[in-house]
Amino acid sequence: MRVAFLGRKSELSSINKSMGTLDDQERKRIGQKLNEVRTAVSGHLEEQGDRALRLEREARTEDERLDPTLPGRKPRRGRLHPLTQVTDEIIDAFVGIGFKVVDGPVVETDYYNFEALNMPPDHPARSMHDTLYVETEDPGTIVVRTHTSPMQIRVMETTPPPLYMVFPGRVARRDEVTPNHLASFMQIEGLVVDQGISFADMKGTLEVFAKAIFGPGLEVRIHPSYFPFTEPSAEVYVSCFACDGSGCGTCRGEGWIEVMGAGMVHPNLFKAVGYPEDITGFAFGMGVERIAKLRYEIHDLRTFYENDVRFLERF
Ligand code: PHE
Repeated sequence: MRVAFLGRKSELSSINKSMGTLDDQERKRIGQKLNEVRTAVSGHLEEQGDRALRLEREARTEDERLDPTLPGRKPRRGRLHPLTQVTDEIIDAFVGIGFKVVDGPVVETDYYNFEALNMPPDHPARSMHDTLYVETEDPGTIVVRTHTSPMQIRVMETTPPPLYMVFPGRVARRDEVTPNHLASFMQIEGLVVDQGISFADMKGTLEVFAKAIFGPGLEVRIHPSYFPFTEPSAEVYVSCFACDGSGCGTCRGEGWIEVMGAGMVHPNLFKAVGYPEDITGFAFGMGVERIAKLRYEIHDLRTFYENDVRFLERF
């Protein structure tokens, strides 16, 4: 606007240029007028310019106003997945009585998953496991571990007794996914090897675990079972924490709930790792999802993996 009204090509400027054609008196009168107009226009422009700047500043101040009295925006706080919580609790129970925690590989060799665990290639017990194999140049040699028991061998190979250890981790089986079965799930394996370890030590240890997870009042019962890598082998039951043993929906009227497999370490395992012949020990293995399902009375194992926040927030 300043250029248009006061610049060299403005109307005021062209009037100024044509002043030479006027007589003295006219020139003086027009000259005065011209100055008046110029002063008025330039004053006005300045005023408007200041006003525009002021308005802009005010608008910006308003826009960027900070109200320190407003409540802050709270970040949503997450939590541990229920399976992580249960895993931690189980591990804590064992760490409390002196166990160490060791991680191991999910992808295993046939040797650790089966052979060293007293399951040679033609062993019928291998069919208990629907194994997922990894495609390699030498088919059938690399597996996704079907249980955490290979860690028994791995640890004994590198560590002399005594051993008091738990091995948590993921395992997989070629299973159809149903409310009671998952194709990929978690196990916690335990291994104790020391001088003079007996079946009674095993039961007492598992009682400590069961009371810590399901409640101090319950009992542990042991049934004969079979695993190639333990002898004798056992199925471990706890008295139903939901009904105190009288029979309910949680224990399907039995009063007892199966929680894991266990047994005395088979001498062939000690032989495979070169341990002394007079050593004894016990091992056990449990499914974390199953324990969590019992503990939280969840009816469908799949809900642990659907990541529905409404479900997860309950824990
Ligand atoms: N590895 C067995 C399973 O996956 C459980 C088990 C572990 C049994 C250790 C005995 C001793 O079913």
